[in-house]
Amino acid sequence: MISFEGYNDLIEKVYQSGNEHVFAFWDSLTIDQKRHLLQELSLINFDELNALYALTKKQVVPMEFEPAPFTRLPQTPEEYKEFEKARLIGIDTIKAGKVAAFVVAGGQGSRLGFDGPKGVFPIGPVSKKTLFQIHAEKIKAYEIKFGIDIPWCIMTSEANHTATVEYFENNNYFSLNKSKVFIFKQNMLPSLDEHGKLILESPYSIFRNPDGHGGSLTALHQSGTLEELLKLGIEVLSYFQVDNPLVKIIDPVFIGFHVLHNAEASSKTLKKAYPEEKIGVFVKFTNGRVGVVEYSDMPQEKLYEKDENGNLRYLAGSIAIHLFNTKFIESITKGNITLPFHVAKKSIPQYTMNGTINITGYKFEKFVFDALPLTDHNFILETIREEEFAPVKNKTGVDSVDTAQELMINLYKKWLVQKNIPVPKVVEKIEISPLFAVESDDIPDFLALPQQKEVYIS
Ligand code: UD1
Repeated sequence: MISFEGYNDLIEKVYQSGNEHVFAFWDSLTIDQKRHLLQELSLINFDELNALYALTKKQVVPMEFEPAPFTRLPQTPEEYKEFEKARLIGIDTIKAGKVAAFVVAGGQGSRLGFDGPKGVFPIGPVSKKTLFQIHAEKIKAYEIKFGIDIPWCIMTSEANHTATVEYFENNNYFSLNKSKVFIFKQNMLPSLDEHGKLILESPYSIFRNPDGHGGSLTALHQSGTLEELLKLGIEVLSYFQVDNPLVKIIDPVFIGFHVLHNAEASSKTLKKAYPEEKIGVFVKFTNGRVGVVEYSDMPQEKLYEKDENGNLRYLAGSIAIHLFNTKFIESITKGNITLPFHVAKKSIPQYTMNGTINITGYKFEKFVFDALPLTDHNFILETIREEEFAPVKNKTGVDSVDTAQELMINLYKKWLVQKNIPVPKVVEKIEISPLFAVESDDIPDFLALPQQKEVYIS
């Protein structure tokens, strides 16, 4: 057994857990590298590893469920009245300074083939503004519209934290109040190989992955951000994913309904475009609690099940837009309630005598929507896909840069049409800066667009 002053108990634990292979390159390491490896190992909860590995042997069988009820888009005069009432309550809540924005941006743009934080991906169809800049400018626009500061929480991970902070520093936080932009890291945990053992990423480091967006609730607390938000009087967090440039970050109607329903968490839903669409679905479990079943966990027969009208029975897709009460998050984190881990079988780089090879292993992640069944009151609101969902997941094809840009262009055109502003035929690409408008109502009645292929309205 190897030894190192101050770390011998830990080393014994590593051997006892059958992970001594992580010391395979020990003799060739410098003192600093040895210390680095031991420090990484000291962060690992060896008791948890077996429990995690056991998950890989378990078949995921979600509790029995039926479709979750949701509030549909307004159709009747009464429903329109309800929506208007919600909007006014939402505006009051926002103006009272009770709402903050929260983006999860811990993932890398790996499916996009992009080397860097996904938030730094240039998505603006004309401007090439990044996802982060578009989100930041929307928040700025809401601040101006509602006359208040809107704090913004940004969750990163170890792999992209420094790059994210530098990006915001270099861009002067896009004129937001820097003291109200909270950038903090989520936790990491080790991935395991097919035998349940740790994986070496280099001769002196262990391969770890971010703990999923479900780690965001813990990270909010551990970073001290939750406490800051509570001190600022924030009651509601508007949660979204960095990869959706169309998200209405601060939506008065949604916030108003959340308040009216006395909900601890609320979610937006839209009708799934086709059964295999890679979005989770809202369900009501037999214990009466509402939650999301992830697309990968959805039983095949349920995926295609139709109702009496021939529509998909499990139609209510989750676009990962939620509202969470800060008190609710506090109750989860203070109560040490942990969300369950989900297993993903993935290709993982492993360092060996012959250099780095890719092996099949397991990553473990928590999903934020697993907090929904913990609520006593929650609310689900239908939204319009074209107005609010343009996921940027892949380089090409479905949910790609091209499809997202097309959706953005179509929405901006729709806003102009709603305002009776003619779009010249020659215009192929059009983009509206969030600082100019975050909805069609913000656009002035008279606006003449130039006769050119690409138009950027700012
Ligand atoms: C996700 C949702 C899915 C939803 C879809 C909508 C999950 C498991 N599923 O799918 O239900 O319908 O989005 O677009 O999330 N992230 C972190 N830290 C992590 C992992 C992810 O911050 O450890 C962030 C990413 O930066 C991204 C978001 O979470 O903003 C979603 O992650 P992604 O892996 O793209 O989820 P999807 O499988 O696309």
